[in-house]
This record gives sequence, C-alpha cells and structure tokens, in this order.
Amino acid sequence: MYKTSRLFGFLAVAALALAACTTPATPGTSSSATATSEPQGSSGGAATSAPATSEAQTPTAEATTSAASTTAVTSTEASTTTAGTTASQLAVGIVLPTKDEPRWIQDETRFKDALTAAGYNGEILFSQGSSAQEKQNVESLITKGIKVLVLCPQDSAAAAAAADSAHNAGIKVISYDRLIRDTASVDYYVTFDSVAVGAQQGQYLVDKAKDKGSPLYLYAGASTDNNAFIFFEGAWEVLQPKIADGTFVIKNSGEADGLKGKPKLSRDEEAKIIGQITTNWDFNTAKNLAESNLTKAQAADKGNVFILAPNDGTARAIADAFGADKDVKSYTVTGQDAEKASVQYIIDGKQSMTVFKDVRTLVKGAIDASVALVQGKTPAAKGSYNNGKVDVPAIQSPVITVDKPNVKATLIDSGYYQASDFTGLQ
Ligand code: BGC
Repeated sequence: MYKTSRLFGFLAVAALALAACTTPATPGTSSSATATSEPQGSSGGAATSAPATSEAQTPTAEATTSAASTTAVTSTEASTTTAGTTASQLAVGIVLPTKDEPRWIQDETRFKDALTAAGYNGEILFSQGSSAQEKQNVESLITKGIKVLVLCPQDSAAAAAAADSAHNAGIKVISYDRLIRDTASVDYYVTFDSVAVGAQQGQYLVDKAKDKGSPLYLYAGASTDNNAFIFFEGAWEVLQPKIADGTFVIKNSGEADGLKGKPKLSRDEEAKIIGQITTNWDFNTAKNLAESNLTKAQAADKGNVFILAPNDGTARAIADAFGADKDVKSYTVTGQDAEKASVQYIIDGKQSMTVFKDVRTLVKGAIDASVALVQGKTPAAKGSYNNGKVDVPAIQSPVITVDKPNVKATLIDSGYYQASDFTGLQ
C-alpha cells in the first residue's frame, strides 16, 4: 500500500508567517467539576494506521442560503518560475466548509500566508455548512479560470458533483482534510493521520482511567463527514478492549454497548453508533446532547467520568455541560484541533487534551501537490485512501497529543501560537 515518497519540494512554500487565528465564540464556563490533567506517561498510542478504506455513505446534502464568504489573495509580481510554471499560472481555488469554526479560520490564515509568500493567485471561499453553496463556489471558481481546486467538502458524498464539474473543466482536484467520496474526479488527498487522531483521544482516556466501571460517554462528528468515521474507528480500536474488560461502561449509546465485544466495526455499525452520538460538528447540538444524556443518567452513572469528544468546539460545549452537573465529580474530556479557546480551557483545567494538527503542514502539502499537478507531475504520495470509487493517492501528516504538561512546549515554544494569546500559561 505504501510507496516511497519522491522528493519534489521545489517551490516549497517558505516563510509561513505565524499569524494568529481568530478567537471563537466560546460556550459558557460554569463548572463544578474539573477536567483531569495530570502528567501523562506515553503521549497517546500513535496509530500506525493504514489509510482508511470505507464503504459508501449516504449523502445528506444541505441547501441553506447563507452567502459564501470570500477572501481573495492577489498574486504579487508573479515573477517566480519553477520548471516552466510561473507563479501567476498557478491559480488555486480553495473551498473550505465554514467560517463558524475556528479550525477552518486557522486554515484560511495559513493558506493566505502560504499563497502570499509564494506569490500565487488564490481565492478562498467558504461554504457555510451548505453543499449547495459549496457547488456554487466551485462553479464560480471554474469560471474564473482556476487550474487547481482544493476542496474540503462540507458533505463528503455530495461534494462529488462539484469535483466532477471541476474535473470536466480540466481542473485538478485536491481533497483537503476531508475525503470527497464516490467519484473518480479526485487527483490527490492531503490529510492528517485521522486514525491516529481517534487513537490518541482513546488512549488518553485509557491512560487516565484507573477504576473498573468508569462511566464513558461517547460523542462523534457529523455523519456526512468521512473523517467522523475514521476518528471513531481510531478511538474504538483503543477503547474497545477496555470496554470489553469492564474498565469503561458506556452510558449514552446502546448501539456501542451492544457492539462492545467487537474490535473492528463495519461502516454500517459505525454509522449506527454515530447516529446516536453525533454532534454534527455543532456546539449547540453537542451541548444539548450532553445535557440530555446527563438528564437521563442516574447519579451512579456520573462521578468520575470519561468523555470521548470528537473536536475542540464540541469538547468545550460538552465539558461545560458536564462541569455544570452536580453529580459529576471530575471529567476527562478529549478534543482535537488545538483551537485557541481550547488551549485556554486546557490551561484552565476545563479540557483535558487536544490533538494538535499543524495546519501549516497541510497547507504546504496542498500547495506542493498543486504545483506538481499543474506541471503534469505526480505529487508525492505515501499511500492511498479508497473513496468508494477509486484509490486516491494521499499524503498524511502526523498529529500530536497536547495536554497541560506539554501545551507550552508544543504550541508556544514551537511558534504556532504566541504566549500572549493566553492567560495563566506556565
Ligand atoms: C476536521 C476537524 C474538524 C471537524 C469539524 C473534521 O473533518 O478534520 O479538524 O474539527 O471536521 O469541522
């Protein structure tokens, strides 16, 4: 499955500025319990995952009317030339899912930095949670003459039509972070190691759980996002043996509990579980689901609880709900994305961990691949992901578990964020 990567880093995007991303709207902060965050031995069993392969999933295209948000990054003098491709010839269209989550603002910021530094033409559009808007964004970029489309799909299957339109117009298509499913019109996939994301979340909970019968609450991302399945798959691989041996007792998913003896789940089984525990990547949905789970649970189902939260935005919402419950003595809660608000939650002891995905690496991968594709070359790949129709050549970046003990070294000392972005940092 894996092949040796070729070194082709010409025109690598250098000098990525370390611009800060915007601060998200943060859910309320009432808290009667604290997230556990003692030093951790091994930092979350890094999954040595083979790229995920998965069957088709049902699209649920949304059709809202929210307007696309646009950021044009104008090219500089465009004098850079690389093996016959001038910078101005590399017109890249980038479509991201929503401006309402800080994760994608991080990507926007890093793309702007990278495009400006390299002197490329680029335009960044947001789909605002709507596949219809996403399709419109892609059509508009096609008419503007882009050479490469970098698309992070709102809905993995619904985005196939947009990818097909671009491909039919002779445009190369790069699936960014989330896999576009059920179409042959995807040239390349740039992603993080998403199985490792889930595995590190699961491992964190396992490392913290000392008592048999520890209450476990599971939450997942949107079922329209292929990543939600991969994250859950990675977490389940690590959690399942500890559920089977009684360390954890699942409190909020009958489907998951019914499958606790099964180390490897089918996509359909995962879909059933995700159907019960989905946050839809939405803070309010996450908060409401957590509150409803807590309302149904008895005091004995609480105490020192363990929570698999799929990403930072939902983690904060879920943490607030658990923190406000008088029967919750402590909670250990996962996250991902290293959003600033969650980094502050970790410093404050309100979120236990996050999984840091260095967006600069992903952006660089997308730009390097764009250049190669425009030049008729094959971008370096280290494996492939099956999208239900074809094996898409892929490159995946590693991820890092971050909690209170290593937050400064990982995110501040590395220059990703400024110390002044936070309070109480030690
Ligand atoms: C991304 C996460 C993000 C989530 C919600 C996933 O596909 O990989 O980083 O938090 O979507 O937007």
